[in-house]
Amino acid sequence: MMTTNYLVIGSGIAGLTFSIKIAEKFPDRTVTIVTKADEEESNTKYAQGGVAVVLDTETDSFKKHIKDTLIAGDGLCDEEVVKMVIEEGPKRLKELLLWGANFDVDGSGDFDLGKEGGHSEYRVVHHKDITGFEIERALLKRVHQLPNICILPHHFAIDLITNHHIKDLKTEKLSCFGAYILDQKTGNIITIKANSTLLATGGIGCVYGHTTNPIIATGDGVAMAYRAKARIKDMEFVQFHPTALYEAKGESSFLISEAVRGFGAYLRNKAGHRFMPDFDERAELASRDIVSQSIDSELKKSGETYVYLDCTHLDIKAFINHFPNIYKECLKHHIDIKTDWIPVVPASHYLCGGIKVNKKGKTTVANLFACGECSRTGLHGANRLASNSLLEALVYAHNIFKYHSKNAYPSLDLEIPDWNDEGTVIPQEHVLIQHNLKQLQALMRDYVGIVRSNKRLKKAIRHLDLIYDEVEDLYKESKITTSLCELRNMINVSHLIIRQSLERTENKGGYFNIDNVKN
Ligand code: FAD
Ligand code: SIN
Repeated sequence: MMTTNYLVIGSGIAGLTFSIKIAEKFPDRTVTIVTKADEEESNTKYAQGGVAVVLDTETDSFKKHIKDTLIAGDGLCDEEVVKMVIEEGPKRLKELLLWGANFDVDGSGDFDLGKEGGHSEYRVVHHKDITGFEIERALLKRVHQLPNICILPHHFAIDLITNHHIKDLKTEKLSCFGAYILDQKTGNIITIKANSTLLATGGIGCVYGHTTNPIIATGDGVAMAYRAKARIKDMEFVQFHPTALYEAKGESSFLISEAVRGFGAYLRNKAGHRFMPDFDERAELASRDIVSQSIDSELKKSGETYVYLDCTHLDIKAFINHFPNIYKECLKHHIDIKTDWIPVVPASHYLCGGIKVNKKGKTTVANLFACGECSRTGLHGANRLASNSLLEALVYAHNIFKYHSKNAYPSLDLEIPDWNDEGTVIPQEHVLIQHNLKQLQALMRDYVGIVRSNKRLKKAIRHLDLIYDEVEDLYKESKITTSLCELRNMINVSHLIIRQSLERTENKGGYFNIDNVKN
């Protein structure tokens, strides 16, 4: 048993930013960060394009960024949230700079601003094409300077501790009291009792086999919150990034940043036709839902498995300077962007929905907060505008910090039972976990992809129920392992995506169901 004032689950931009702020303000309070892989492993680490912030007020304005965000969100954004996040952006970016993050500047010392799909202006601050890596580096450095933060890598959060775990609880209000954590190196399960718990567990990309996300993105936070009966919303809005590098084996895929299209690259089909102008007047710089759906339609028409991104007409020296990592990664795949087109295909990238929170980051469960990609704030509506995610995490981490600065946290005078694994055995059948995972990913890819139909969604639910039954049986009789828990979480998340898809009767943003198309 461990006790801490703040339990933070996840060490990406959301979890680290909140931890730094609260630890700096209250040196006498303890912050414990648990994270399931190496401390830097996160979606944050792989962010390429950058952070969308209005800095150049001669050409840009909050009004324009707000308008672009609302257009991308296709009528489903919470306008108050959009305004708040965008107007807070410059202040939050300043803090990142103070913590030592470096962003590229141009010849006159101003930030070198990039442009991505759906943005009407150049406003994306970046560090080459490895912005997330730089942010993660700076945040972790600051975390390690603060003695009241304890960071526990290779510690996996299994489940939140809520009312139903505790006998004779005085309050009936659904509340969170910490979490059960698996020490992945020893196999021990630790009870961490916390006055306040923050879910900052990131995305769900791995639910689809083909994703830009790293393998940690298994939707654990959303699934834990769902099991704890927190409200989960907008799960049907899974964002597919238009340009993941095509690899014949499928699975996790390297991203070719949208900023490359902002730099002037064209999308072409195999016949060489530049097809985006046929779909949208913004061509390659339409918002990502439109570009992904256009590619999907182009592929269905031609029967091909990928389209191309053509950079051959660009200033190659400037390209290599701006995108050195993309250039190198393409070379590793024997693609020389000077002469070769890059084969690309849409891949699951980002969850616009998630754990519903208010402007203070509070979930519908008391003492439980959510921040970053696992949360649903209302900023993104039906489709996230590029580079608004890092921004959202910074702003909400600050809001949650502000809330905790003003409000005393509840006392924790209660007995929490240890994890009970009586009668369970070490699972011998790892093949069952792998097999079910592959089935789940195939099901999500084939029936719950960019274009959906009620028939396919209903079929997906039926197949998912079979996988669910098999995995629940395995879970009840097995000692906890990370891969089993992750699979169980991905099943919960898939269930939410499919159910909430079936509830949506109007196509919006990233959600497209052929049965919703009016004749
Ligand atoms: P993450 O950074 O994913 O961190 C989640 C953390 O939680 C990880 O440390 C993980 O290990 C941990 N965790 C998860 N489950 C558990 C558990 N059960 N127990 C313990 N720990 C757990 N957005 C932009 O705004 N601009 C960009 O340029 C951009 N580029 C991107 C490029 C790529 C390739 C990808 C994948 C995403 C990109 N995004 C971008 C999206 C953005 O990076 C993410 O949405 C954002 O970084 C999420 O931050 P986070 O802190 O919420 O989660
Ligand atoms: C990219 O660089 O294309 C990703 C940007 C994002 O997801 O916001």
